[in-house]
Amino acid sequence: MKLRGKKIGIAFSGSFCTFDKVFRELEYLKETGAELYPIFSDAAMSIESRFGGPEDFLKRAQEIAGRKAILSIEGAEPIGPKGYLDILAIIPCTGNTAAKLANGITDTAVLMAAKAHLRNGKPLVIFISTNDGLGMNMKNIGTLLNTKNIYFVPFGQDDADKKPNSLVAHCEKIVPTLEMALEGRQLQPLLAL
Ligand SMILES: Cc1cc2nc3c(=O)[nH]c(=O)nc-3n(C[C@H](O)[C@H](O)[C@H](O)COP(=O)(O)O)c2cc1C
Repeated sequence: MKLRGKKIGIAFSGSFCTFDKVFRELEYLKETGAELYPIFSDAAMSIESRFGGPEDFLKRAQEIAGRKAILSIEGAEPIGPKGYLDILAIIPCTGNTAAKLANGITDTAVLMAAKAHLRNGKPLVIFISTNDGLGMNMKNIGTLLNTKNIYFVPFGQDDADKKPNSLVAHCEKIVPTLEMALEGRQLQPLLAL
């Protein structure tokens, strides 16, 4: 397993419907020897929804990682000067976080982590999950796709009939995307059903 011993930041933004399946991939990552550093956006750590409560999500992430999550901008900032992550993954990445990242906005722990990590020239992986991926956010996704050191977990339309603009990345591609991003390469094919 190429990710054994790698220090991987896992940044959660508020796409709550994907949390459960993402947690299962994180359990696998942890079991195979990766060191996980959870990070939560304000929305991810505070919104109560039909998919669950924020305290449960936080607890589960911290239990899997075996360490406290980073919950603040000041908590994420040292990722820059200390450079302690090998790779950072925003899993899941909302349309909101993608739009802000593409426009240089840094107002959550997740975005601060991304900015701090990119400053060190290290890989950032995006697991997109948003209903407006082929709509309002297409331009932002395009900007990120064309940005140095940013890689995407292959994604596709999850419900083309009912949500024609919706894009969601594929959970089973998280591990190979991380492995290839650490080698400076994008896992292909990028677009997958
Ligand atoms: C139940 C629920 C589910 C949501 N799912 C998504 C989603 O899958 N993708 C998305 O882009 N936004 C989703 N949102 C909206 C985001 O949580 C919202 O835009 C929030 O401001 C995102 O902040 P963040 O990007 O800092 O985490 C959802 C909101 C709620 C309440």
